[in-house]
Amino acid sequence: MKNCNLKAQFGSGLQTHIEGILFSTDTESEAPADDTESDGVALVSFRELVPEINDTGYLTHAIFAYPAKFIPQVVRYAINTYTKEGDWIIDPFAGSGTVGVEAYLCKRNAVLLDLNLLLNHIMPLKIYNGKDRLDEADLCKLLDDMRESRHPFIPAWSNVAYWYAPEILEVLSRYWGFINNMDGGVYPTIIKSALLKVNRRFSYTEDRTPKLARSKRKLEAIAELLKENWREQLDEMVYSLSLKTLKNLNDFVMHTQHQCEHLGTVEFHGGVDSSYHSVPRACDALITSPPYLQAQEYIRSTKMDLFWLGHTEEEIRELSRLEIPYRKADRLIQTETLDKIRKMLTRDDLQKRLDSYFCHTVNALENSMNQLGPGATACIFVGNPRIDGITVELWRILVEYFTERGFVFEKVYEDRIKTRKLFGARKNKNPDGMKSEFLLILKKSTTYQTSSRQYESVLQDKEHPVRVPRKSPDSDAS
Ligand SMILES: C[S@@+](CC[C@H](N)C(=O)[O-])C[C@H]1O[C@@H](n2cnc3c(N)ncnc32)[C@H](O)[C@@H]1O
Repeated sequence: MKNCNLKAQFGSGLQTHIEGILFSTDTESEAPADDTESDGVALVSFRELVPEINDTGYLTHAIFAYPAKFIPQVVRYAINTYTKEGDWIIDPFAGSGTVGVEAYLCKRNAVLLDLNLLLNHIMPLKIYNGKDRLDEADLCKLLDDMRESRHPFIPAWSNVAYWYAPEILEVLSRYWGFINNMDGGVYPTIIKSALLKVNRRFSYTEDRTPKLARSKRKLEAIAELLKENWREQLDEMVYSLSLKTLKNLNDFVMHTQHQCEHLGTVEFHGGVDSSYHSVPRACDALITSPPYLQAQEYIRSTKMDLFWLGHTEEEIRELSRLEIPYRKADRLIQTETLDKIRKMLTRDDLQKRLDSYFCHTVNALENSMNQLGPGATACIFVGNPRIDGITVELWRILVEYFTERGFVFEKVYEDRIKTRKLFGARKNKNPDGMKSEFLLILKKSTTYQTSSRQYESVLQDKEHPVRVPRKSPDSDAS
């Protein structure tokens, strides 16, 4: 019978061996800091501005993989600079909940919204609020029981057999059957987080591309693995990842335990379309990073996880249809810079994507920003994507839009980084190997009157019954 001595039996070399077979590793590095400022643009390195965080995956940040995550230093900087203890922060594109974790640790409160249902599975672990250290022996007992389980869980995924070798699928189904049958609790949730990584690693999909992609390389790697002691290797990975997460949680408990007074409250709502969802409460700051303009499909990238977590094809299809920028625009966002880009675009499909992107991104931001009080700050982290070879200065377009609607442009920080991980090996390539990301700071004018804004039904169909704040009657937005 396997137990937690697996790690001791096989040693840490085994993990490296699996990694060597299944994927290559890559690194991320950043440019040196420079605080020169021109035209309201301050060149910075957030990693250097926040030296107290020296590991982007510290505490619970690295428990789940997610495409285009915030580095926690950006969020911490925004929290330290633009909020105070007890404030409420809204993030309408919360993804894997980086804002929630940082808010919690800094004694701020947060409302997290995201279209992706993963958020609901991620947050209970990432902001684990147990007061006592978790016991390795309890976790190992559960892992041992899971290995003996005979009740399979088959995900509601018609293609599941296409992604796995039959013998691997059989084992994974039994492990998930055991875990999905338990009534929650922290230990099963720890194991789920490990199984999600194992699912991907032992499937035919490339580990480091965001979307599912069955590759020849991976088929060969799995075929090789099946000739070896694959079952031990799979178990070793489940055990070691589970134990690593348990350690992360215990570090989190230690870190938060001595702060006996109230930390933060974090509300999270996965499966929410922020473009048509009115934010449930008044907030003191917005900190967010909107989706990429260029084809980062978060639902498709994480659908393997969602299936194993018990979501259905229909649910996932429905959510994919709402993803930005793959849906129709229902209004045209107009600003000086955006209009120029629109005129330069010759391809119809790209024009539609641009219009969809700005319509729904601005809708979501505006729904949240309407809930900010006078004097509150919006911190929006964006890149400068290119569309048909044209650079889209996102931060400038947002400045143009929101300064016409009661916000004041405060500044924009430019962080130059060498490569940015999306899911892993896929890097954003640009000629000089450098890429800039921008943290835009807008302040709500103290004379801003939310109540003067007009409320209108956004869509007449029953799919989107929520009424959201829209532009004031004298606005020129569309
Ligand atoms: C750049 S990611 C955010 C990552 C996040 N900052 C983190 O640290 O994990 C953008 C997010 O926008 C979400 N998104 C896309 N379309 C959406 C929509 N219509 N409503 C709400 N969220 C949406 C995606 O699911 C994705 O998680």
